Amino acid sequence: MSVVNFLFPSVVRFGEGCLSLLEKENIPKGPGVIITGGKSAKKSKALGRAVSYLEKRGDKVYVFDGVEPEVSVETADKASEYCRKIKAVYVIGLGGGSALDCAKAAAGCAPGGCGVTQYLEDKAKLNKPPLYFAAVPTTAGTGSECTKNAVLTWTARKVKISLRGDSLVPRLVLADPELTYSMPPDITSWTGMDALTHAVESYFSSGANETTKALSVCAIKLIQENIVKAYKNGGDKTARRSMLLASVNAGFAFANAGLGAVHGLGHPVGAICKIPHGLVNAIMLPHVLKYNKKACLKEMKALEKETGNDIIDTVLKMNKQMKIPGKISGVCGNAKAMAGLILSTTAYSGSMQYNPVKMDAGKTEKLLKRVL
Ligand SMILES: [Fe+2]
Repeated sequence: MSVVNFLFPSVVRFGEGCLSLLEKENIPKGPGVIITGGKSAKKSKALGRAVSYLEKRGDKVYVFDGVEPEVSVETADKASEYCRKIKAVYVIGLGGGSALDCAKAAAGCAPGGCGVTQYLEDKAKLNKPPLYFAAVPTTAGTGSECTKNAVLTWTARKVKISLRGDSLVPRLVLADPELTYSMPPDITSWTGMDALTHAVESYFSSGANETTKALSVCAIKLIQENIVKAYKNGGDKTARRSMLLASVNAGFAFANAGLGAVHGLGHPVGAICKIPHGLVNAIMLPHVLKYNKKACLKEMKALEKETGNDIIDTVLKMNKQMKIPGKISGVCGNAKAMAGLILSTTAYSGSMQYNPVKMDAGKTEKLLKRVL
């Protein structure tokens, strides 16, 4: 029996100004908590607006802020504990991938009364319904608003790990391009290249199907037209809108098709070398595409026919235009010295299993040498 599963958020709204719908959506009555990152959601006024829309419903609204980039298991634990303490009925994740992943993990873990670590160590199961969870992305790239995974950094073990469960998929997504306008150029390029990596890896994934491929192609076309425009001129509203739409489409694609070696190896590289996720992906993507080329020549030709461009040339050109270096050592001076540690923490059970070339320790070492 061959079964294809599709998992999507229950409700997705996309469009300029749709943050205001928080007031009218069918979200359960509070208390509620907004989980967010550092200063950007405050600076862009998105946080204040979200609180005000929810308060207009008569809700008591709490804020758990300060979620760090590449969020840790420890922070997700604190957020989950906070949700229990205030007896939260719903959780709104507002921010980039880390804020959304932290909120997703907190909403999933809070009802069970256990710490996130207990679920990660398989000492507890995510078998209680999570708190109602809505995702409001403020970057265009993570795709976390579309998935059942919360990617967390397990600091003690120096690894990135996914907390997974079908019930973790957001109930509501509000994808408002206006919230991405204030992203600086570097975050625009890194998050945008993360979205491109999602689209490209899901296209070549062994888990891809006709539907996910169509979503991947749509995202790749939007990104190749718009990422450099958004990077060079953050005020280009059409480019911003296109990048967020691409990110959501790429999210739908990889949530259902899986990823590949860029994410499989990129997570340990990022965790050990302390490099932002999107930047690691941008650097690794052309190397992995070249490595995989022989195994997916037919698919590469098909993609070129769809997008009008060779995908490897396209990625190299984008990276050059956005000043992204060609190797990891270009952003982490002692990366080569950490190769052994990276390899020892690379897992083959997650994204790596969908790579078109079946990866093992020997192949991964060869690939890593090219990337570092
Ligand atoms: Fe990613």
